[in-house]
Amino acid sequence: MGDSAVKELEDRIKKDGRVLGKDVLKVDSFLNHQVDPMLMQSMGKEFYEHFKDQGINKILTVESSGIAPAVMTGLSFGVPVVFARKHKSVTLNDDLYTSEVYSYTKKTSNHISVSKKYLSSDDKVLIIDDFLANGQAVNGLNTIIDAAGADLAGIGIVIEKSFQKGRQLIDKAGIPIYSLARIKAFDNGQVVFEDENE
Ligand code: G4P
Repeated sequence: MGDSAVKELEDRIKKDGRVLGKDVLKVDSFLNHQVDPMLMQSMGKEFYEHFKDQGINKILTVESSGIAPAVMTGLSFGVPVVFARKHKSVTLNDDLYTSEVYSYTKKTSNHISVSKKYLSSDDKVLIIDDFLANGQAVNGLNTIIDAAGADLAGIGIVIEKSFQKGRQLIDKAGIPIYSLARIKAFDNGQVVFEDENE
């Protein structure tokens, strides 16, 4: 059952993904620029199947590319979706939880923030994001969840690059994680998944 969303995503990555340089996968045609809502919906259902027994009442992501998969996941759960906003710098604001996120890919630092209105100690949160690379975005969201006194129930990732640091950091912290597509390596411009034989 669940496997079909994973298979659909992996097939789509093979068909439409493009490997840039040695560690970047471009998926603009269905995830990061143009969005395939049908694929997002199957992935949302898949995250729901995986995490449905955890008492989750809120989905949290970061703008912008996390929003599409997060909204479809929220739809499956029937719960609200909150996206952290990015700012170059934030003047102190008592109404916001903030955290700093460094992007290795873009070599810039962003502050991300969530209004105190939309996250509280009553919340059991599922983080959803499009990519897991070095884990900086997830780390920043986790800091915000802690500041709000909310509970982190788990992390759902669309595409994990297992050869970068993020996965290890999350496993080490003992946080439940479910990545739909897990990329083991890029081999001469070809994507190799963890679950396929080379
Ligand atoms: P991290 O959050 O895991 O630490 O990732 P990193 O700093 O390396 O990546 C920063 C941005 O680049 C993130 O998006 C992340 O989703 C994206 N990214 C990382 N690896 C890849 C990749 O191989 N392909 C693509 N297409 N994106 C990748 P962001 O800055 O938050 O941008 P956006 O959500 O506004 O698009």
